[in-house]
Amino acid sequence: MAENTSQPRRMNDDLITAHVGETGGLMRALNALQQHDGYIDAALVPKLAKAFNITKAEVKGVISFYDDFTKAPKGKHVIRICQAEACQAVGSRGLTAAAIEKLGIGLGETTPDGRVTVEAVYCLGLCASGPAAMVDGQLKGRVSAHLFDAYAEEGEA
Ligand code: FES
Repeated sequence: MAENTSQPRRMNDDLITAHVGETGGLMRALNALQQHDGYIDAALVPKLAKAFNITKAEVKGVISFYDDFTKAPKGKHVIRICQAEACQAVGSRGLTAAAIEKLGIGLGETTPDGRVTVEAVYCLGLCASGPAAMVDGQLKGRVSAHLFDAYAEEGEA
């Protein structure tokens, strides 16, 4: 039986065309796609380029420039670890190494079961309380490697 994929494609087409002609239309369309699908499907780049009359390279450049746009779905939980100078001075590199060791994934990666994504971020505004992280949108200061324990245990987080 053939899978019906026309509905999601139609929705994505609508999300793109709804912003054609608007100031900042490309950004609005990318935000809409990111919210709807959880990522920007690379297959949509030619449609975006055509709709906004720019090159595919320009579309890819915008997607790559902004951390909030992703090329693959993120995990159920997203842990962002500050890599900026003030947090590095109080241990963010060790914290990052602990995350990589405990979760078995690198920065910018998602666990194979889709539970956790770990990302780098450059300052969360908690510089005096580093190392800082953001877990599912919640800011956390003076983070220790214990933060990752619950996420490292399969089925726990
Ligand atoms: S340097 Fe890490 S929160 Fe500012």
